[in-house]
Amino acid sequence: MSDRLIVMGIESSCDETGVGIVEWAPGSSDGPVRLLADEVASSVAEHARYGGVVPEVASRAHLEAMVPTMRRALAAAGVEKPDAIAVTIGPGLAGALLVGVAAAKAYALAWDVPLYAVNHLGGHVAVDTLEHGPMPPCIALLVSGGHTHLLRVTDLGQPIEELGTTVDDAAGEAFDKVARLLGLGYPGGPLIDALAADGDPSAIAFPRGMTGPRDARYDFSFSGLKTAVARYVEGCERRGEPVPTADVAASFQEAVADVLTMKALRACADFDTTTLVLGGGATANSRIRSLAQERCDAAGITLRVPKPRLCTDNGVMIATLGAHVIAGGAAPSPLTVATDPGMSVQVSAY
Ligand code: KG4
Ligand code: ZN
Repeated sequence: MSDRLIVMGIESSCDETGVGIVEWAPGSSDGPVRLLADEVASSVAEHARYGGVVPEVASRAHLEAMVPTMRRALAAAGVEKPDAIAVTIGPGLAGALLVGVAAAKAYALAWDVPLYAVNHLGGHVAVDTLEHGPMPPCIALLVSGGHTHLLRVTDLGQPIEELGTTVDDAAGEAFDKVARLLGLGYPGGPLIDALAADGDPSAIAFPRGMTGPRDARYDFSFSGLKTAVARYVEGCERRGEPVPTADVAASFQEAVADVLTMKALRACADFDTTTLVLGGGATANSRIRSLAQERCDAAGITLRVPKPRLCTDNGVMIATLGAHVIAGGAAPSPLTVATDPGMSVQVSAY
């Protein structure tokens, strides 16, 4: 392998069109991967009036944003073309994935560079190596509008083991739905986070889903919690009482943070792992972060959280995973590789 490899990552699995460029330089003192460009175009504002991501709207927005985002990334990195392209092949929205993968294939063909089809979820974990260096075997907790996954990572270039996932709503989705119940806007996570700062997290004892002795150790469920919040709000309205929105937000947020961090720490203990990595847009949540830090400190576990911009969907995380996959010796993907909207995290690349 040459000393310096420029890897481009293309991301289009949900509502962010991302093109990131990193440099893989094994001999460098900055660590093996360095960020050269991070360009993201988001269609989140176009989904706001629907209260959630509309797949067709996202696909159309990717089509419009792909080439301009690519041009901005190349200009920012000061390169004419990369040495390799990595692209999110799944999991994600079918139509949205198609746009990024079609673009990646076209650029790979035109530039005559290898294509690496990679797993979006692995990207959320791998991106942490940019800031915090090589990653020891760890447990990763991914929480966003689209995912809630507890993962066991041994080597980023290899498939990741999924320990658990949500059996219903994703954690970020629960924030969005509860925000709608409380009459807040979209996306709901940041609004609940802000409102919760004025509330009492112990005011209302909302249920902690799937934490009983017979429940799956690492799976999550948030729909019962969401229903409990709805019943609570309805009860206030029926009695003609004002809804204590700040207390509801704080108590709901506490229930989500409690279950997420409890199961993540449980996985660390079960697998004798001393590193926990957080990823995904909902890790911007102040209580998820602070409770994770408190519990990791108490258990002697190192917590690694990428900066918020790299926690949400972006192309850099795909480029970074691509660099690890290439370094792991994977063969490039054929240009006939198909998108895989329901892709398991246990597959790292095609
Ligand atoms: O990773 P991301 O940008 O996109 C997805 O793949 O979904 O995550 C967006 C999700 C939304 O559901 C949003 O409500 C949630 O992350 N989120 C938050 C916070 N900031 C964003 N949830 C809780 N607290 C926050 N501060
Ligand atoms: Zn994501």
